[in-house]
Amino acid sequence: MVKRYTAGARLYDVLSGEHLVYRAGRVAGIDALRLQRGDIVLDLGCGTGLNLPLLLERVGTEGHVIGLDRSSSMLAVASDRVRSHGWSNVSLLEADALLLNPAQITSIALREGGRSRFDAAFSSYAMSVFDDWMPAWALIRAVVRPGGRAGIVDMALPTGAAAVFAPLARLACAAGGADITARPWQALEREAADAEHTVLRGGHIHAVTGTLP
Ligand SMILES: C[S@@+](CC[C@H](N)C(=O)[O-])C[C@H]1O[C@@H](n2cnc3c(N)ncnc32)[C@H](O)[C@@H]1O
Repeated sequence: MVKRYTAGARLYDVLSGEHLVYRAGRVAGIDALRLQRGDIVLDLGCGTGLNLPLLLERVGTEGHVIGLDRSSSMLAVASDRVRSHGWSNVSLLEADALLLNPAQITSIALREGGRSRFDAAFSSYAMSVFDDWMPAWALIRAVVRPGGRAGIVDMALPTGAAAVFAPLARLACAAGGADITARPWQALEREAADAEHTVLRGGHIHAVTGTLP
């Protein structure tokens, strides 16, 4: 899986179907996250940093975003994006979300924002790619403060009339190494009493946000 994102990192933004299909999910998820100016946010499996402009627009220059990804090639593209925009309130961390000690990222939240936990965590099209999303969910629970927000955007097979696109959706997920049956947002729905669930693109994209207890 690491190899897939190593070889494809420079082409990811062009070949991933971002504008035609997937941007709508990240926009809906980040909107529903209802971030506040000054928030410190974790972007788990941040890839090339496509969420960064949307997250930074909401947290402002007084907030901070920490992007974590296992692939150095994806992070190199994210780092170019940060440099070209001149963003000084983004930290990028190369780490495996499934093996990471939460203290490794909470220490960044403390250094950059003087807070021992994050105000929010967001993950788009990433947890279905992780070998197992449960430890990643445990990481989110460990690092987001009680009352903080979480957002998960991920993919499933289209349904109803859109089911005709199921073979295409399967192909896109297989190309990206995603498990289309993973449904990682279910953990958030179970734990957040106020979970909001938006379904887009005929059921292919699910954006779930909520407040953590
Ligand atoms: C389909 S990309 C999504 C990237 C980005 N979130 C987006 O919305 O465009 C999935 C990302 O998950 C990362 N990834 C896969 N397994 C990981 C792990 N165990 N820990 C951290 N990142 C991982 C990959 O390197 C890749 O950048």
